[in-house]
Amino acid sequence: MISSCEQKHNINVLLVTLSAQGHLNPILKLGKILVNKGLHVTLATTNSALKNMSSAPNFIGGVHHEFFSDGLPIDYNRKANMDYYMDTLSKFGPVNLLALIKSHPRKFACIIHTPFVPWVSDVAAEINIPNAMLWIQPCTLYQIYHRYYNGLDEFPTDTNPNMSVKLPGLPVFHVDELPSFVLPSNTFRSFDSILKQVFHNMHKVKWVLGNSFMELEKDVIMSLNNGGCVFWPVGPLVPATLMGKEEDVGFDLFKSNEDSNCIEWLSKQKPSSVVYISFGTLLFLTEKDIKNIASGLKTTKRPFLWVIRVPENQELPKHGFLEEIKEQGLIVSWCPQTQVLSHPAVGCFLSHCGWNSLLESVVGGVPVIACPQWTDQPTNAKLVTDVWGVGVKLKKDSDGGFSGEEVGRCVEEVMSGLKSEVIRKNALELKAAACEALMDGGLSDNNIRMFVDEVVSTCS
Ligand code: UDX
Repeated sequence: MISSCEQKHNINVLLVTLSAQGHLNPILKLGKILVNKGLHVTLATTNSALKNMSSAPNFIGGVHHEFFSDGLPIDYNRKANMDYYMDTLSKFGPVNLLALIKSHPRKFACIIHTPFVPWVSDVAAEINIPNAMLWIQPCTLYQIYHRYYNGLDEFPTDTNPNMSVKLPGLPVFHVDELPSFVLPSNTFRSFDSILKQVFHNMHKVKWVLGNSFMELEKDVIMSLNNGGCVFWPVGPLVPATLMGKEEDVGFDLFKSNEDSNCIEWLSKQKPSSVVYISFGTLLFLTEKDIKNIASGLKTTKRPFLWVIRVPENQELPKHGFLEEIKEQGLIVSWCPQTQVLSHPAVGCFLSHCGWNSLLESVVGGVPVIACPQWTDQPTNAKLVTDVWGVGVKLKKDSDGGFSGEEVGRCVEEVMSGLKSEVIRKNALELKAAACEALMDGGLSDNNIRMFVDEVVSTCS
């Protein structure tokens, strides 16, 4: 007689994503959870990941790895022209993924993909394998794009560029709080066409798993499910490091740039004293932004840990204004962010509001200073300030930049005074809710079990 665990271990799930840190992190975490629930999991990603790695990882946290070509040489600079890259990937990705699946020794019972490879649904349909999508941004964004790409509501246009939008399960969004891809000013043609394809292909997707949790986005999750979507929050999909447990992130594309001293440096700082600053993996700050952040930090006199990334093959310029504040903090080109956000010395996070960074901040219980730039970030920033009350937003100047005084003002607002106490209390409550969602029998844990049961039942 085969035990249910043995039965599950014979069930193979394939995860597919492109090699971007913000996509790899949540899907790999989901993979590790599915392994713990007894499934056999393989992650297939584009081989550009190998560019920064001395050797290809073939097994991380119980998840097996495979690579497929996106049609470009490994050393090609994909960030130089995102439209060209996404077009090439959509042309070669499906062919190469299909070849990988057909030649693979395991027969997959289900394929789970991230949104920016929407053609995976076509591949899954062609070979008749049930397909799930892991939505890696807030459920709020799913609702906004679902309404926008299905033409269910009015959105800003060239003739009415400043209109506000009210959608089911969500607060009113002003134009500067909407994702940049739904605005008439959007210049990224490829992202618009990918999102169009995501929502065009939704009938081929059996389950949508959201990297969020009920307590964080209850109204919109209920509204999506009442509106006929099968949308199950299974997050937050973040490393257990944030909950005080050991866990290797596993697939760190920038590990070679990491400054291993920063945890030691943090350990020498007072509790809740350090301002942590990072803008994720896609953005590079302008010289003016760097100067203004530096001047704001200088006025606060508070210690800081600042990740400044520069484009490939470039070095951080030796700015005089960075030299001036050198002794006040630590500047690095990459850090183990989840270890940083779980460190007691960190008092707040000045962030671009990428969804992974925000979830990591929520689970770390760290207040946020929101400095959104594009895509989902303006909407995520609204959740931080107006919905969860765990931070403040930097006010932009008329030219879209921000001043040093504004940086200093926001740092003080979250680090000291009455408002900061409320923010800190809210942040700790959300942290507790996040941990509860993931516990045995928590809402996200139950959704994962339900998903696993459905996958298992499709095989019996
Ligand atoms: C992109 C988009 O920009 C973002 O808006 C969207 O929500 C997800 O995809 P990215 O800009 O990379 O993501 O930001 P984010 O989602 O925050 O992911 C960055 C990841 O890199 C985080 O998991 C963070 O922990 C990690 N990181 C960042 C490090 O490990 N070390 C660093 O020094 C900086």
